[in-house]
Order: sequence, then C-alpha cells, then structure tokens
Amino acid sequence: MKLNTLTAAFGLVAPTSALLRFGCAKLTVQRLDPLVNPGQLPSTHLHQIIGGNSFNVSMEPDKHDLPSLSTCTSCQFTEDFSNYWTAVLFFRARNGTYKRVPQMAQAGMEGTQGGMVVYYMSDALFDTAQKSKVTAFKPGFRMLVGDVTNGNRDDARDFRQLTYTCMTDQSSRFPESIGFPKTPCKGGIMANHRFPTCWDGVNLDTPNHQDHVSYPEVGTFESGGRCPSTHPVRLPQILLETVWDTRAFNNKADWPEDGSQPFVWSSGDKTGFSSHADYLFGWKADSLQKAMDGHTYVSAPMLKTQSISEQNKCTVPDMVKENFDGWLPQLPGVSM
Ligand SMILES: *[C@@H]1O[C@H](CO)[C@@H](O)[C@H](O)[C@H]1NC(C)=O
Ligand SMILES: *[C@@H]1O[C@H](CO)[C@@H](O)[C@H](O)[C@H]1NC(C)=O
Repeated sequence: MKLNTLTAAFGLVAPTSALLRFGCAKLTVQRLDPLVNPGQLPSTHLHQIIGGNSFNVSMEPDKHDLPSLSTCTSCQFTEDFSNYWTAVLFFRARNGTYKRVPQMAQAGMEGTQGGMVVYYMSDALFDTAQKSKVTAFKPGFRMLVGDVTNGNRDDARDFRQLTYTCMTDQSSRFPESIGFPKTPCKGGIMANHRFPTCWDGVNLDTPNHQDHVSYPEVGTFESGGRCPSTHPVRLPQILLETVWDTRAFNNKADWPEDGSQPFVWSSGDKTGFSSHADYLFGWKADSLQKAMDGHTYVSAPMLKTQSISEQNKCTVPDMVKENFDGWLPQLPGVSM
C-alpha cells in the first residue's frame, strides 16, 4: 500500500478512539542507554534518541519524572516528553571503514533534522475507525522491544513486528522484511519498530524490560487479537518509523564482493535481526489518555503542537564526547 492511500484516508470519519502520528527531530545521537545500561558512560553502542530533554546517562525510574525535568521536547506534540531510541545505521565500505547513514525527514515534515515518526494507535494503522479502547501508559512505564543479541531469523521472529521497508520513494510501506534489504533501496531503508500492546497492569518495568508486556494471545494487534490473561491491559500500539537515507551508498560497485549487503547496526549486526528500540513514557499528566480517547485520526486538536524549527532546537549536551563523523576504522565501542 502507498502512503497516499493512507493520506487519502486521513480525517475521513469520526472515530471513537484515536490514532496519533507525529514527527520528532533528533534530540541527540550518543552512546547512552539509560534503560539497559543506566549510569554507563559510554554505553555499549551508539543510539539515536528523540523526545524530552531530561534524557540523561541515568534516569532512575522512581526519581526521574520526565515531564517535570524536561524543559523542551524534539517532538511535534509538546506534552510528550517521552524518550524513544534505536541503534544507528552504518555503511561498511570495501576497505572496512564505516560511515554513519544520515536520517531523512518524511513527506510533509521536511526540515526536521534526523529523528523519527511516532504513531500511537488504538487499532491497525489503516483502520480509520480506531474504535478500540486503549489504556495509556502510566508514569514510570518503560519497555524494550527486540534483542541486540539476535543473530538469526528464528530468534528475530520472537518479536513479530520489527521490520524493514526497502523504499522506492517516500510513500513506500510494503513489503516489509525481517532482515536488512538485500538490494539497494532507491528511497532509503525504513526501520519499523512496533512495540508489544498488552500490559500486566502491575509492573512499570521488569528486569529484562520486556516481561511486563506481551503480544496478543491470538492473532495480532492489527487483527484485534485479545490480550492474554497474564497481560490483560490493552495498550496503544507504538510504531516508530526511521528513514535511513542510504541513497549515497547505493552503488553496487561499493558493496561487498561476496554479494552481501553493506549496512550494519551500530551494535555490529550485519543481518538486521538484532533490531531493537527503547521507550520511556513521559507524557504530561493525562494528555496521552485524553488524546487516545479523542475521536481523531492523525490530527489531534486537543494536543499542543510546536513548529519543526522549535523541535530542531531541543537537544541535550554531548556527554560522551566521541567523534563518529567521517570514515571510522571501527564502530563506536564495538570491535569486530
Ligand atoms: C544529567 O545528570 C547529571 C547528574 O545528575 C546532572 O548534573 C545534569 O544536569 C543532567 N543533565 C541534564 C541535561 O538534565
Ligand atoms: C575507504 O573507503 C571509502 C569509501 O570508498 C573512502 O571514502 C575512504 O577514503 C577509504 N578510506 C581509506 C583509509 O582508504
């Protein structure tokens, strides 16, 4: 399906719940991970981070209140001080050096520096009715989807909805693959991170940052599958779309001689199966629940917004002080 089909559907009906779609600029790109490696400076691999500027080396769950400690957010909706992050994509040249792949703003969000597009859904993306009830995350809620140690397709299947789209243009959304695309992608590579949608209703986090959430017991979020009795609370589905602008690296003559593809996650993964993303909930008061209950599709008049130039201005200090521009002999923090 093409995005113009999606765009054509925007705002057609008056749904009883909501789908939010909004851009967030880059907050920072650093080797930090307050969820998996709290207090570790630098963390094991490079991340690209969006959201509220209370993001820091440590964000202790019971002490760090994202909305009150943030003074700005890189997201369009100014009540969203959450943090969202993923690994960073690199290109590996034939001579073994690495170059960071830039990120591209999506259509209609031109001028946004880096970052991602974030969705919160009540039902499947293409369901304009958005009629199912969802319960917004609670303050202190965090989760991780994916596993940085996954190296094969079977392991990657544990996380049903971490995929890539080989884009021909800005509107490409299908097909999706579980590993990195194997051929050059004219419009870049979109990484799709969909988080689990069922919560145990008790724990804001768990030691592996995953056991308190689950996928539906049957079917999928998209098919309206019910949550298991262990995780009965239906959450909004968060989807992160990151467009990696691979266009400067599409010359097959620069690709590996053995016919493999040249892109690698900042963790060192050449397969794409280790795709992962982190989420620290940080919406102000009950703004997310109100928005999800708000009878809208894509537009969200009940939420306050800011301009792209304001989004771009929200950053955090460089705490790691590490250079990762130019051709690097190795990935930051990773020896291969
Ligand atoms: C990060 O944490 C340190 C130590 O607590 C603090 O001094 C600093 O102000 C924090 N930075 C931001 C951007 O909040
Ligand atoms: C390695 O390859 C890249 C891409 O072709 C090139 O720009 C760079 O100068 C090369 N570096 C070295 C040290 O040869």
